[in-house]
Amino acid sequence: MMYRLLFAIIVVTSLVSAVTAQDYHSYSNPAAVRVRHVDLDWDVVFEQKILKGSATLTIERISPNEPLILDTRDLKIDKVETSADGARYEVGTFKLGESDKFLGAPLTIPLPPKATRVRIHYSTSPGASGLQWLDPAQTAGKKSPFLFTQSEAIHARSWIPLQDSPGVRVTYAAHVRTPRNLLAVMSAENLSGPARDGDYRFRMDQPIPSYLIALAVGDLQFQSLGPRTGVYAEPHTIALAARELSDTEKMVVATEHLYGPYRWGRYDILILPPSFPYGGMENPRLTFATPTMLAGDKSLVSLIAHELAHSWSGNLVTNATWRDFWLNEGFTTYLERRILEAVYGRSREEMEAALGLRDLKEEIVSLDDRDEILHIDLKGRDPDDGSTDIPYEKGALFLRHLEETFGRARFDQFLKSYFNHFAFQSITTDQFEDYLKQNLLNKNPALAAKVPVDEWINKPGIPASAPTPSSPAFAKVQEQAHLWLESKIKPAQMPVAKWTTQEWLHFLQTVQTVLRSPGSVPESLDSAAQSMGALDRAFHFTRSGNSEIAFQWLLMSIRNRYEPAYPRLEEFLMTIGRRKFIKPLYEELAKTPEGKARALAIYRRARPTYHPIAVTSIDDVLKWPGE
Ligand code: BES
Ligand code: ZN
Repeated sequence: MMYRLLFAIIVVTSLVSAVTAQDYHSYSNPAAVRVRHVDLDWDVVFEQKILKGSATLTIERISPNEPLILDTRDLKIDKVETSADGARYEVGTFKLGESDKFLGAPLTIPLPPKATRVRIHYSTSPGASGLQWLDPAQTAGKKSPFLFTQSEAIHARSWIPLQDSPGVRVTYAAHVRTPRNLLAVMSAENLSGPARDGDYRFRMDQPIPSYLIALAVGDLQFQSLGPRTGVYAEPHTIALAARELSDTEKMVVATEHLYGPYRWGRYDILILPPSFPYGGMENPRLTFATPTMLAGDKSLVSLIAHELAHSWSGNLVTNATWRDFWLNEGFTTYLERRILEAVYGRSREEMEAALGLRDLKEEIVSLDDRDEILHIDLKGRDPDDGSTDIPYEKGALFLRHLEETFGRARFDQFLKSYFNHFAFQSITTDQFEDYLKQNLLNKNPALAAKVPVDEWINKPGIPASAPTPSSPAFAKVQEQAHLWLESKIKPAQMPVAKWTTQEWLHFLQTVQTVLRSPGSVPESLDSAAQSMGALDRAFHFTRSGNSEIAFQWLLMSIRNRYEPAYPRLEEFLMTIGRRKFIKPLYEELAKTPEGKARALAIYRRARPTYHPIAVTSIDDVLKWPGE
């Protein structure tokens, strides 16, 4: 009897763990009570910088006597109601637990025996980590306020009480009231007509993880790009954005050719104000993107290829926990390059892959071993800390290794069937590994022997047998950089007329590497800053309007004390809030006492304009307000 009970317990727990991987970054208990649908109803109150309204959760009861436990952060809970039939709601009790620095506070709601719906009346706090409220001055138009959300990794809980784990998928509907003349958009189907009456309804019928719920409100215009693609931006930016993004439909078609149908209906892009803390965010049906990608020559659209790719890798097949983040980002980085190759040719792909590999190698030098592992352990840490080049570039390199070993035809087929097999599911690294074994490795044991899968997934560093993406175009650029550094040619003699942004980036990185290693600085160049001056006079990097080139140049300017670029650096940090740019710049400044003082002076003024997520990072870099 005892044994049977024990056996039953083991069977039950292993069944449950098959569908519910342990997520250390959520207090929720989806194995006992699972949220299936969320109805949202809000007033967007710009004067108070709050969302005020309710979230009604439809739940599935798996263990009848368990309470519902939700994730929250800085939410003000006014009232909780429960209902058995959806018609009559009765006031219920709730307990808001203590708040953890990373995880926020659990909201425990005892459930009457038959309850299937729970309504929480609440409001957000003005400092909510997943919201940024912009004053009109922080927008392009300068006339209207702006609100946008950023839920990944665990910020949805700061604006919606829910089971904030990527292993839990929900459908959702929303009713949003805004000031008149502002437009609300969400990662969902828009059910309202074109009228800007301040009353908007949305519906997302496909089950998605909480980190993909998204909302933005502002003075937005729409322009169509293709049959199912379009762009939203402020009126000031819309024309530029539409020109820059005119290849979007082509990219969707190319991705469908590779990996099967686009399953989300429309693919639109929202261009945000410059304080958006990321390059892009793959909110379903509506990618959120930084305006710093609008270079004017489409040279930074790899970002769109990336966010679009997430419609397969990430949104369709989702990482079950933040340990499995590489399943989202490594796959997506690999897909991004395949899309670029399909639309712009192999040479572009080679350049992007080579830049990626360089970044990876550079970052690995300063990472702890434990952070170099694809299947990373993030227990007790902020999951945003896992966002290094490891999940992105090491993950992509692993897939490239598989592609090169098994051949494109076989590997493409494998990926396509992987996306179909796990469509609308959240999966763990173990599930991927099983699927890989059964559908690729075991079918070709001789080839499988060439890929050290366990080393790729569970060990630090880059396996010795990893591919080394290289670019013939870059080899030529490098040659020019060296000729110039050795004073064998003048800048005017370099064949730069047709260089792309990627080639310029490679040029600057090559120059930087040489300037950084004192032994190799040629004697004719008496100082690094002087060399930079010569380059600047020839190529005007300080006033480059390309954000990636400007960023690379400003980073070098700090390293090499190139003072003429300092005003531009200050302007850059005061107007752009993209974490990938500002964090390395502040870090570089913080390396010397004078630099640190300048960083603090700039940050004091810039901080109120940055997104809460960027503020958390930069506070940490500068030990704010420590001194
Ligand atoms: N999903 C990520 C953004 C993200 C990751 C937000 C982790 C929060 C936590 C998005 O797809 C992404 O990777 N964006 C990149 C751009 C891309 C071209 C590499 C970014 O923002 O830099
Ligand atoms: Zn991504």
